[in-house]
Amino acid sequence: MGIKNKAREISGIIEKQDVVTILSHNDADGVTGAAIAKIALEQKGIKNEIKFVNYLDKKTIEEIKEKFVWFIDLGNGNIEEIIEKNISCVISDHHFSRNFYENSINPFIYGIDGELEISAAGLSYLISSNFFDFPSDLAIIGAIGDLQDLKHCRIVGMNRELLAKSNIEVKKDIRIYGREKPVYKMIAYSPDPVIPRLFKRIGAVISFLKKIGINYEKSWNEMSKEEKKILLSSLIRLLIEKGFTYEQISRIFGEIYEIDGKDLRDITTILNAMARNGEAELAVEICIKGNFEKGESMLEKYKRNLRECISFAKSRIEEHGKLLYFHGDGQINENLVGTVAGLLIKEEEIKSPLIGFAETGDGIKISARLPAILSKKVNLSESIHKVASKLGGGGGGHCSAAGAIIPKGMENEFLSAFEEEIRNQLVL
Ligand code: C5P
Repeated sequence: MGIKNKAREISGIIEKQDVVTILSHNDADGVTGAAIAKIALEQKGIKNEIKFVNYLDKKTIEEIKEKFVWFIDLGNGNIEEIIEKNISCVISDHHFSRNFYENSINPFIYGIDGELEISAAGLSYLISSNFFDFPSDLAIIGAIGDLQDLKHCRIVGMNRELLAKSNIEVKKDIRIYGREKPVYKMIAYSPDPVIPRLFKRIGAVISFLKKIGINYEKSWNEMSKEEKKILLSSLIRLLIEKGFTYEQISRIFGEIYEIDGKDLRDITTILNAMARNGEAELAVEICIKGNFEKGESMLEKYKRNLRECISFAKSRIEEHGKLLYFHGDGQINENLVGTVAGLLIKEEEIKSPLIGFAETGDGIKISARLPAILSKKVNLSESIHKVASKLGGGGGGHCSAAGAIIPKGMENEFLSAFEEEIRNQLVL
């Protein structure tokens, strides 16, 4: 059976329900996935409620075990528990799972890479489009939110097929984030690729721009074709001089995605900010109505808070063998620790796996992130799942970005066991 047949089969199960609880992950992919599910259920006249969580813990499972649940962007890591508790449900989760579950649309089973080729929103769309035909815009926003275009600098695989069913415009442009910001800021804070000699050096960026005759206060979007050409070729020359490979340099230019003139990357930043600030339900509403600008004020508040968390985390980073870690100590909450770790690993040129701890109501939330130089050498997801389970918690996620929850006070045990796992992976 192909993935589309599976989607049809699952839509048939959903159709028979009177009430559906959508249980989704509170990030951009989870929000868009939940919005797609809600659109479909409303269309079918099926009563529904939405609940967002950061991860699926025992408490949440207890709360929903008597309901019919549509798990989105989570569930694959808890299949044993779902079977054991006999929960009536369907799952659209793109995370890798070794466990088979009949009512789960698991892309890996169909030879589709859930890290790159389809997101949870995409899977929800495959199911929901059986109810009625509607554009796949939110499925693509979810994929961008999940950074699925990052590896190849473009949307690939099943996402590409879904893209064709959307109102999203594909353009070729500079891929550096912040095309609407003054160009000196855009270059100084570019995380991909990092521009050597200029990264985080405002003075150096301004002199570089003056030297090539570009008004540094203009944004990329305001620049003429000629100015863009000059800037691009100067940046490329700089990267060549610094020994960057063709592959690295070509990341500078590629596909960007827009809807109604808005960059999808900006939309996903807004959705993530809202979800991380406990406004995921409002984010779903915005997705359904398509009025993304409504979330912009939230973004400012979120960015301020994030800056404070990042400087706190930076001041607390310590070494543990092959790992680096920081503890949020009540200053960084469980919703933000993953974002903080993710930004630090990208922007601080960290070369070891980075672990962030944050206190939660009923345990310690862990977020682990891998630097690009260790990708393919280490799988954080497997190790975190193994270690957290051994300590009485649980975890999972992706090879490069994984998370877990462990009982309070077990941070040191976790660090030692996890470090050993990582060391073993590096030896192999
Ligand atoms: O929360 P964070 O962004 O660090 O999560 C990274 C990944 O780890 C996500 O894909 C999330 O679903 C997964 N995770 C998990 N179990 C947890 C926490 C996070 O599988 N307890």
